[in-house]
Amino acid sequence: MSLQLNRTEFGNTANAGNVLSKEEVMQLLNDWVKNERLQLHMKQVAYLMKCWAAEKEQLNEADQWRWEMAGLLHDADWDQWPEQHCRKIIEELEARNIDAEIIRAIASHGPNHFGVEPVTKMDKMLYVFDELSGLVHAYSLMRPEGYAGMELKGVKKRLKEKSFAANVNRDEINDAMQRAGVELDAIISFIIAKQGEVV
Ligand SMILES: [Fe+2]
Ligand SMILES: [Fe+2]
Repeated sequence: MSLQLNRTEFGNTANAGNVLSKEEVMQLLNDWVKNERLQLHMKQVAYLMKCWAAEKEQLNEADQWRWEMAGLLHDADWDQWPEQHCRKIIEELEARNIDAEIIRAIASHGPNHFGVEPVTKMDKMLYVFDELSGLVHAYSLMRPEGYAGMELKGVKKRLKEKSFAANVNRDEINDAMQRAGVELDAIISFIIAKQGEVV
């Protein structure tokens, strides 16, 4: 599924700092996303974004929430309007005058699909976490212990197996790492350490 957005400008810079409350975001998710696995995916990516913003970027709480919000909403339209992914959520957030950086991050979470280049750190880390989060979660589901005791080498072995989580595009993972200037091992270890906390 691929929708070229054919735009490079998103939102309005005058809306910088405008966010939804956590309650408003959860309301939107509950209205739009009936698929629990998809909701969990967005919560997982959101948590990784929040933790990365706090621990690696040393951002304040308001900025951490902006990163988290981008994660929570990046696939919000996928469940009901896959052919409009991610135009629908972008237009919704623009109509609500939401911070342009959050909208841009959502618009660039799949540069090969939507035709929007990740530019900011928020853009790049959303792209990094998106597919790797899913692969690590798929691995947790096949382990009796789930995330407990999960090792980096186990995840890397699965990553090399093309048939495992075959819908996770390995080329895109490498592309995302390069763009963000981060190391695969460090990102996988970060996901292993954090993602099991999301239920
Ligand atoms: Fe997506
Ligand atoms: Fe996603």
